[in-house]
Amino acid sequence: MLDQPKLDQTKIEIDTSNIEGTIAPADHTTFTGNRALAIEEGLIFELGRPEVSGVDLPDPKPVANRLGTLERKAPIGLPGLSEPEVLRHYVRLSQKNYAIDTGIFPLGSCTMKHNPRLNERMARLPGFGDIHPLQPQSTVQGALELMREISHWLLTLTGMQAVALSPRAGAHGEACGMMAIKQALIARGETEQRTVVLVPDSAHGTNPATATLVGFTVRSVPARADGIVDVDAVRQALGPDVAAIMLTNPNTCGLFEKNIVEVAEAMHEAGAYFYCDGANFNAIVGRARPGDLGVDAMHINLHKTFSTPHGGGGPGAGPVVLSSRLAPYAPLPLLVEDGSGLKLVEDPAEAPGTFGRLGAFHGQMGMFVRALTYMLSHGADGLHQASEDAVLNANYIRVGLADLMSLPFGNRPCMHEALFDDGWLKNTGVTVLDFAKAMIDEGYHPMTVYFPLVVHGAMLIEPTESESKATLDLFIAALRDLAMAARRGDKERFLGAPHFAPRRRLDETRAARSPVLKWTKPAPVEG
Ligand SMILES: Cc1ncc(COP(=O)(O)O)c(C=O)c1O
Repeated sequence: MLDQPKLDQTKIEIDTSNIEGTIAPADHTTFTGNRALAIEEGLIFELGRPEVSGVDLPDPKPVANRLGTLERKAPIGLPGLSEPEVLRHYVRLSQKNYAIDTGIFPLGSCTMKHNPRLNERMARLPGFGDIHPLQPQSTVQGALELMREISHWLLTLTGMQAVALSPRAGAHGEACGMMAIKQALIARGETEQRTVVLVPDSAHGTNPATATLVGFTVRSVPARADGIVDVDAVRQALGPDVAAIMLTNPNTCGLFEKNIVEVAEAMHEAGAYFYCDGANFNAIVGRARPGDLGVDAMHINLHKTFSTPHGGGGPGAGPVVLSSRLAPYAPLPLLVEDGSGLKLVEDPAEAPGTFGRLGAFHGQMGMFVRALTYMLSHGADGLHQASEDAVLNANYIRVGLADLMSLPFGNRPCMHEALFDDGWLKNTGVTVLDFAKAMIDEGYHPMTVYFPLVVHGAMLIEPTESESKATLDLFIAALRDLAMAARRGDKERFLGAPHFAPRRRLDETRAARSPVLKWTKPAPVEG
């Protein structure tokens, strides 16, 4: 799977006579396998020597053996390293991560924007970081106040009626919104009748998955040649069996669904609901309110729009805003104020319409603190500016590459991400994957490739508002250089790329189908 030999340090230390045998093959330029400061790193098991220990403990006193036949027959096989070796191993591994703190991360549809350090400082304040969800509510009034404040911002920015903070991600938010729709249908006595959810081709893949998970059948709606949903096709697909539509706006092609109001009206006339996938809200926040466009439910990815980190070892947050049509069915807990202060309502008896709980506790406090910090530090005018800059940056990239790379829907303004297809690579012998891998040699994380599926050989670039003009200029220049190389047939630069990374092109199918997840001790070498 990997075409670079592993450095066997033990062998190098002991067997200096065998240097010939440890020299890397011709395509490697160094003895060690390292490339400048990109250090070749083995697994800790490969680096360790059993006789080494990072600590100096006294020998244990002899004891009578009470284990009998259960006594261990062979050493346990833990890697042995000194403390500095362990530290260096993990620091070197950490340096192998390409991160938003390393450089531009142009993954379309992911909104990899800068995570301000102020957010992190705030999330670590003991009053937020050290509290426990089972503490008496009277002792966490400040945290509840923060939840009320972020709810207020989300409702103001979206023009909606209610918000559920507990979903842990965008897709979880979709489930929340669709469960609220299901609950509304139960209240109307129409669950038997309304079993279908319309999903346009330009929707995010999680939308049909969510509709199916919540028990609906998906009916897809084709997009028009210009990449946006066809309102006539929506009308044709509508019927008494339709419960809702799930429309992503701006859509996964980076285009604003400009017929959104007509879609909403058509749905409401037919007695159905309008779920909007608002994961791309970062393109319109502060400029358009989904509530004004007829949306009934929408999730917001705090990790995209409001700069909280993606993943990072903990649950995220995908709050869902609901219109007045769906507000009565919002999940527990509800945040209310009574005479004694703020209170989380957890008992369904106090919220008769609710569809219940989505998970334990109340949501991901750390993400709320980070997102609210981002909102407050930007202010309303700053958020307006951020979405404007995100769109401006994407269009700057589109224009900077449009004469070399092809655009599936013509050279017209996009929203927060610029989408190219592989039409321009035809007859070059270079594929989208080759192009993306060659970007690694240039020191860039590739853009999203082969998504969205509605476009052949898609390359989706989302720079976000975080990037300066200087960064974008360099990025565009690097991509132009690659694009010109591909066009003039300089295939060597692409085939087999990345050439300069410590790991080369993987057999991705094999890596996905038969991943090697366990280290197996090599058999001892004979002789
Ligand atoms: C348009 C869209 N919808 C839904 C999701 C799912 O969000 P999450 O990954 O937080 O579950 C994403 C993820 O980026 C997205 O881009």
